[in-house]
Amino acid sequence: MALIDVRIAEIIDETPTIKSFRLVRTDGRPLGVYQAGAHVDVVGPTAITRQYSLCSKPEDPDAYTVAVKREEHSRGGSAALHALQVGDVISISEPRNLLGIDTDAAHHILMAAGIGITPMLSIARYLDLHGRDFTLHYFARSHEEAAFIGLLEEKCPQKLHTHLGIPRAEHEPIIRAALADAPTGSHVYLCGPEGFMDTVAGIAAETFPDDRIHQEAFTAAEQPGPEGNRPFEVELEGEVYPIPADRSIVEVLQEAGCGVDTSCQEGICGTCIMTVLEGTPEHRDNVLTKTEKAAGETIAVCVSRALTDRLVLDYY
Ligand code: FES
Repeated sequence: MALIDVRIAEIIDETPTIKSFRLVRTDGRPLGVYQAGAHVDVVGPTAITRQYSLCSKPEDPDAYTVAVKREEHSRGGSAALHALQVGDVISISEPRNLLGIDTDAAHHILMAAGIGITPMLSIARYLDLHGRDFTLHYFARSHEEAAFIGLLEEKCPQKLHTHLGIPRAEHEPIIRAALADAPTGSHVYLCGPEGFMDTVAGIAAETFPDDRIHQEAFTAAEQPGPEGNRPFEVELEGEVYPIPADRSIVEVLQEAGCGVDTSCQEGICGTCIMTVLEGTPEHRDNVLTKTEKAAGETIAVCVSRALTDRLVLDYY
């Protein structure tokens, strides 16, 4: 994974627990425009890599902004980023987009909870700038803890529906009502904590086709232990590699010198996705959509395995 060195040009306390960091290249060149909804890998001072959505203006080539919530039980990633100062240098990847906007959609419903507002911010900016029809439902504990709420209230007050201080158990009827009102041809985009994502995705799946539900997870799926794994083989460019029960595809391929890029190693970032030419993957990631998993044409090789004795893979 090629990394870019960036300097922190500005830090803003968006809420008591969320800071935003405006990043510019250390060599003074522009970072380039990005697609709304994209995220980057951020490698902080502890060398821990985490994925953060870009929430600056997608059409601004000079700087990227990421917002980081300080996690209560941070293993070093978010806490170390919160300790950074203006002028410090960190590394980021090129943007990747798992939440692409369907520009043919008749209407866009954005559902965000907590820090999940970050990808929705760039998507809302894009939709607003291009005159697209959308609504944004934003769930947060309070106005004070809702990052970027002032900006949204100022820029798109008619599109914004805030749901503040509502207990998780009472989210379901609000989500149902939001989706029930959707015009025909709407697409749903969701991001937030796992429980919120599961609730929205479950309700949306009752009435929306899978290809109209767009989501981005920042937590890994629970992985079974190696005792439940079976060995299989992977063929890549004519070479066959045995994958034992206690090793991942990517571990074996990288050890053999194959150039497979990785980042999260948890099945959430999409860096390691490869093409499946033959065989049936056993998907264990949180990055491919239900439709992509059912098609069986791609696999996240850091966590997923095989249902067949051999997978024939190619680079993505
Ligand atoms: S390395 Fe992130 S999905 Fe595999």
